[in-house]
Amino acid sequence: MVNSIVEKTFYIYTYGCQMNVHDSEKMLGTLEEAGYAAAESPDSADLIIFNTCAIRAKAEQKFFSQLGRTKFLKRKNPQIKIAVAGCVAQESKDEIRKRAPYVDFVLGPQNIHHVKNLFHVPKQTLVGENPGISTQEYEMRRQSSSRAWVSIMYGCNNFCSYCIVPYTRGREISRPSSSILSEIRDLRERGYREVTLLGQNVNSYRSDVDFVQLLYEVGRIGLDRVRFVTSHPRDLSPSLIQTMADISSVCEHLHLPLQSGSDRVLERMNRKYTYASYREKVLMIRERIPGVAITTDIIVGFPGERDRDYEATVDAIEEIGFDGMFGFKYSKRKGTKAFGMEDQIPEDIKATRLNRLLRIQEDITLRRNRSLEGSVQEILIEGPSETDHDMLMGRSRTNKIVTIRNDGEQEGAMLSVKIHRARHHSLDGRK
Ligand code: 5AD
Ligand code: SF4
Repeated sequence: MVNSIVEKTFYIYTYGCQMNVHDSEKMLGTLEEAGYAAAESPDSADLIIFNTCAIRAKAEQKFFSQLGRTKFLKRKNPQIKIAVAGCVAQESKDEIRKRAPYVDFVLGPQNIHHVKNLFHVPKQTLVGENPGISTQEYEMRRQSSSRAWVSIMYGCNNFCSYCIVPYTRGREISRPSSSILSEIRDLRERGYREVTLLGQNVNSYRSDVDFVQLLYEVGRIGLDRVRFVTSHPRDLSPSLIQTMADISSVCEHLHLPLQSGSDRVLERMNRKYTYASYREKVLMIRERIPGVAITTDIIVGFPGERDRDYEATVDAIEEIGFDGMFGFKYSKRKGTKAFGMEDQIPEDIKATRLNRLLRIQEDITLRRNRSLEGSVQEILIEGPSETDHDMLMGRSRTNKIVTIRNDGEQEGAMLSVKIHRARHHSLDGRK
């Protein structure tokens, strides 16, 4: 630890996916290890970091407007340093420099370990490839003391035609299994109950072992719960499905982004599977893993999506009956293949299509949740409910939010809970 009389402080804004949430845990830990302290608010921080998301225009706009407000802090106190990290940093470094000349540092997702030097260096842009990323070790300050994210691979090679991620996070590279396993053993020793293995496409994990072998090794460590995100339907193999069924700690939940129910659109998205093959995998998963919850992502309004394609998505959603769905309006991302496609869909049509889809899914989710009424679920407690401190909130193995009366159980407690009422986004339970 560096000892200084007046401790320098930092504040991190985090946007986007779990990778980003976890990257922020890495930056936080790295900075604390270097002797800096987290500030309560950006107003009092010496360094403000934006960990940004570029997946859709909206996420990017949210960041730029927050960044704009920071300009005034810097005007009041020119000593403040401002850093932009993450996916927008990688993708739009020039735009950031142009729109916000007061930004001091631009750090791509492969360069976040450099945060520890930022207090000592002048303006810098670090967006180069980090060939050592798979063996990069980070100090981490995890948000939770019971559930942990563990990176198993970085980057993405899929190049779905709508997606910016391969450009911001680079090519796929897997961490050696030995460092993943020792990180998880250490978590177990420190009392963690659940890990989520993280990667853009975990099914294509490959180092000295493949993903199935890695899961068996992780299973042997003996944590209560193991999850993983995200899976690509093309790469989800029968042997992985069997592995999920075989290892008792692997939770009965799979997030499996479908994106569209139309083969024509799937092809134009470069997804490399058909709806029929997706459906077949879902049937196999449900057959081998009783009680499994399956959730998905859908994009509506992809360029050239006709009414008939959209209706195929509606039919798919109804046929599969997902436990949950994240629905998005297609957002044009510069540099991707779909950016230049003809037949971009007008915003109002995208909105109408999305709203109808979300409504349909709401009913399906409620129906799926109702089927759990009367059942007993194992709940891992996360803490008091945000809206009502007399209630505790936890999660089932199927990743459903369950609320119970707060009798003082702490984060990390495991309880058996009887579900007495299903809601759209959660379940009410009793011990
Ligand atoms: N527009 C809208 N949604 C997108 N996603 C990825 N790229 C885009 C885009 N350009 C969605 C996909 C993915 C989820 C993380 O975000 O559904 O699965
Ligand atoms: Fe995560 Fe993708 Fe957003 Fe990057 S662009 S933060 S990888 S969702």
